[in-house]
Amino acid sequence: MSFTLAGKIALVTGANRGIGEGFVQTLVKAGAKKIYAAARDVSSLQSIVALNPEVIEAVELDVTKIEQIQGLVNHIPQLDILVNNAGIIDSALSSALDATEFARQEMEVNLFGPMKLTSALIPVLKQSPQAAIINISSIAGISNFPSIGTYSISKAAMHSYSEGLRADLKQDAIAVMCVYPGPTDTRMAEGMEMDKPTPVSVSEKAFAALSEGQLEVFPDDFAKQMYATFLESPVKLAQTFAQMG
Ligand SMILES: NC(=O)c1ccc[n+]([C@@H]2O[C@H](COP(=O)([O-])OP(=O)(O)OC[C@H]3O[C@@H](n4cnc5c(N)ncnc54)[C@H](OP(=O)(O)O)[C@@H]3O)[C@@H](O)[C@H]2O)c1
Repeated sequence: MSFTLAGKIALVTGANRGIGEGFVQTLVKAGAKKIYAAARDVSSLQSIVALNPEVIEAVELDVTKIEQIQGLVNHIPQLDILVNNAGIIDSALSSALDATEFARQEMEVNLFGPMKLTSALIPVLKQSPQAAIINISSIAGISNFPSIGTYSISKAAMHSYSEGLRADLKQDAIAVMCVYPGPTDTRMAEGMEMDKPTPVSVSEKAFAALSEGQLEVFPDDFAKQMYATFLESPVKLAQTFAQMG
């Protein structure tokens, strides 16, 4: 049975801008019944809620705060789609003396927060006849991109986590998708001088893939090319990234 968005209930983290906002836009357009748009600062969600105030509810969530995760989970009686989108890049070289501090903070937001939120919501998702967890990794999670070494570590961890979760939930009606974007036109990639796809193109590609049962998504040309290099030779991709920076 193909995955449909119409009538679904979704939660998107980091929904106030960038790729998270793109996911909310795509869900609204596709006829989702209810969207919990989560952000650390709910006032930053005003323009997002205005897209369709009957469908979108602004909710507070810092993914590193366990009490906020618990409060939100208590507030959500039903859920079909969880989008673990919130993320940071506050990166250091892997060799830096303070690399562990950067890595620790990135792991808190990019991995441990989503893991805690997901585990807390799995019982609710299990009630859904057709559910999906969509995790946002990065093409830099497939192979380490040295100039953002600690960020790459956190995104590789998100990739591995998604594989484990997919296997754990295979008996349930919960699809676990992992998305591996290349540089996308959001605040996070502001400094990168190259052609960057729009955030909404990421969410559209992700949902199109979900409807076809494709759970690993490389949503843009750069990510696709780099993944093809990886499939040819993982060492070759690592060398390619090392040359790029
Ligand atoms: N843009 C790219 O090139 C690219 C490529 C590959 C993967 N990604 C991934 O895509 C996802 C979205 O990033 P983006 O490009 O849309 O970047 P962005 O514009 O910087 O947005 C990041 C989002 O994460 C939220 N966030 C940060 N820390 C948080 C926390 N502790 N709790 C809850 N929310 C938090 C931010 O909220 P605030 O407004 O409160 O800071 C914001 O909504 C991230 O996981 C990122 O790693 C991005």
